[in-house]
Amino acid sequence: MRPNFFHHLHPPSIPAEQSRFRYTLGAGGLGIFLSLVLLVTGALEMFFYIPSPEQAALSVQTLTYLVPYGGLIRNLHYWAAQALVVVTVVHLLRVIFTGSFVPPRRFNYLLGLGLLALILFLDFTGYALRWDEGVRWALVAGTNLLKTIPSLGKSLYGLVVGGSTLGAATLIRFYSWHVFGLTLAVVILGIWHAFRVRRDGGIAAPPPKQRTNNARISRFELVRREVLAMLLSAAALFVLAALLPAPIAAPIQAASDSLGEARAPWFFLWIQQLLRLGNPFWMGVAIPLIALTTFAALPYLFETLPTDQQGHWFPRAGRGAQAIAAGIVLAWLVLTILESLR
Ligand code: HEM
Repeated sequence: MRPNFFHHLHPPSIPAEQSRFRYTLGAGGLGIFLSLVLLVTGALEMFFYIPSPEQAALSVQTLTYLVPYGGLIRNLHYWAAQALVVVTVVHLLRVIFTGSFVPPRRFNYLLGLGLLALILFLDFTGYALRWDEGVRWALVAGTNLLKTIPSLGKSLYGLVVGGSTLGAATLIRFYSWHVFGLTLAVVILGIWHAFRVRRDGGIAAPPPKQRTNNARISRFELVRREVLAMLLSAAALFVLAALLPAPIAAPIQAASDSLGEARAPWFFLWIQQLLRLGNPFWMGVAIPLIALTTFAALPYLFETLPTDQQGHWFPRAGRGAQAIAAGIVLAWLVLTILESLR
C-alpha cells in the first residue's frame, strides 16, 4: 500500500510512554474528533438555518422543535463546540506543562495558538447566528469593542458589522465567516498542525538513552486506542446532547444598542468581568491580546529548554513557562467564575 496522510500521522510504532492517556490526556485527538462532529452537524444545520434577522431565530426554533432529530443535531453541535474550547485549552496546557512547545516544535505551537484563536471566533460567530435575545451581549458589546481601537476602530467596526449599525449585513457576514471563512481556516491549519507533529519528529519524548521505559506500541494499538476514545467521547456527547438542550430565546425584535441584563457567552464571561473594571479598550481588547501574545512569546523566552527535559510532565527548566501559563488560565477561570456569580 502506498503511504498516505493516515500513515504519516500513524508511524509504524511510537514510544509507549508518550502515547499513554496520562501523558497526552487524549486532548489533541479529541480535538480532531470534535471538529469532525462540528463539520457534520453544522452541515446538517445549514439545510434549515436562514441567515436573515427576521428568520434566523425562528429557523433555529423550527430546527429544534419541528425537524425530526433537529434538536439532537443542534445540541450535538452546541456541546461539541463548547467541549472543543475546553479540550483545546487542556491540550495547550499539556503541551506547555510537558515542555513540548519549544524548538523544534515552536512553529507547530504557534499554529496551535492560531487554531485556538480561530476556534474562539468560530464559537463567537456561531453563537451570534441565533440572533435571539440570549446573544445580545455578544452582538452589541462584542462588536462595540472594535470601535474602541485607536485609529482603526471605526473602519474595523464597519468591516465586521457591514455598516454603521447591526442588521442584515452583520448576520450574513457572521454566517459567511462561520460556515466558510473561519471553518476553512481551521481545516487548513488543523491539517497543517497534524502534519507538523510528524515533521517535528513525533510527539516530544526524552532522548532514548534517558528514557525510563523504552517500550513502543504499534500503529494498530494506537488506532485501537483512538477508536475506543472516539466511541467513549461520542457516547458522552450523545448523553450531554440528550439531557441538556442548547440555549434558545425569543427572537431579537430590534437590534438596538441597549444591553440590559445581557450576558456574554461563557467563554467570554471573563471579558465581561474585565469590562466592569475599567477602560473598555484596555480591558476588552488590549488585555486579551497581551494574554495571547504572552502565550506566543513562551517558546522564545524558554527556547533553551534541554531536550532531556522535554516529553515528561513538569520539567524543571520549564517552571517559568508553567507558572505563566497556569497564572493566565487561573485568572481566566477566576474572572469567569466571578462574572457567572453575578
Ligand atoms: C483544534 C485544536 C487542536 C487540535 C485538533 C490539535 C491536535 C493535535 C494532535 C492530534 C496532536 C498530537 C497528539 C497529542 O499531543 O495529543 C497535537 C500535538 C501538538 N499540538 Fe495540538 N491541536 C490543537 C490545538 C493546539 C494548541 C492550542 C496548541 C498550543 C498553542 C497546540 C500545540 C501542539 C504541539 C506543540 C504539539 C506537539 C506536542 C508534542 O510533541 O508533545 N495544539 N495537536
